[in-house]
Amino acid sequence: MDLANMFRLTGKVAVVTGGGSGIGRAAAGVLAAAGARVVVADLDVEGAEKTVAGVEADGGKAVARQVDVADPDAVNALVDETVSGFGQLDVLVNNAGIMVRRPLTEVPPDEFDRVLSVNLKSVLYGSQAAARVMRPGSSIVNTLSTIIDFSTPGTGSYAAAKKGGEALTRTFAVELGPRGIRVNGIAPGWTDTGITRERHMDETGEFQQNGFDELADKMATATPLGRVAEAVDSACAVLYLASEASRCVTGHVIRVNGGASMA
Ligand SMILES: NC(=O)c1ccc[n+]([C@@H]2O[C@H](COP(=O)([O-])OP(=O)(O)OC[C@H]3O[C@@H](n4cnc5c(N)ncnc54)[C@H](O)[C@@H]3O)[C@@H](O)[C@H]2O)c1
Repeated sequence: MDLANMFRLTGKVAVVTGGGSGIGRAAAGVLAAAGARVVVADLDVEGAEKTVAGVEADGGKAVARQVDVADPDAVNALVDETVSGFGQLDVLVNNAGIMVRRPLTEVPPDEFDRVLSVNLKSVLYGSQAAARVMRPGSSIVNTLSTIIDFSTPGTGSYAAAKKGGEALTRTFAVELGPRGIRVNGIAPGWTDTGITRERHMDETGEFQQNGFDELADKMATATPLGRVAEAVDSACAVLYLASEASRCVTGHVIRVNGGASMA
């Protein structure tokens, strides 16, 4: 067996949403390094272009596209454009996400809708669009969160969305399995990205490094491995789930969290 070949994505085409930052940027880099042509899709097109520049500097192939994953028409157009431009779609990483912290007792309806639209409905829209065009051997990977395993105050909307994403992952897996399309998730633990940094901006927009480092240490101490995840750790799990190496795995969620939760 050619082990490296099991992880190779040469000739494959991947779309990574939320590819303009953090875990999505790392996933785009790793998938491109494995040989895929990557469509880096993000609301923040400048972020997506920065990701593409990084991929190209490393010798990979990628293009940037602007998309709002909460808009089903935009997501359908992204998939159609990918197929007309590259001939196929083999890997979709539904990764874009936002977090708004507020106790559930105070969450207004429009905020709840927005968090569900970006984190949950996007998984439905992306997977539906991909399922229209994907061939046997294709793979969908959804970025969920460690929040699916336990609750913390102020994260109820986000948790509802991610737990819903886990349900969509499993149901798409059973519905698309007979067509040879696999559907899995990753559940990252606390990771240094835009989402976690956002919380440590003061009123003037300045990043508070000390408070951030303290929280990172606290999160690391709470894990059996004594470490927090880096974006590339999640990206490597995405590569496994996107590649032939995981050809017998579907409906599964890989926890990339230093052992903070196990299921
Ligand atoms: N960082 C963590 O600790 C952590 C832990 C668990 C799960 N996650 C999940 O990882 C995923 C990636 O987040 P990240 O941590 O890399 O944060 P990030 O903020 O660095 O990246 C999120 C990206 O999503 C994009 N995005 C936001 N709304 C969008 C929309 N409507 N349409 C298209 N793109 C949009 C942003 O522009 C950004 O580039 C998210 O689904 C998040 O919930 C993160």
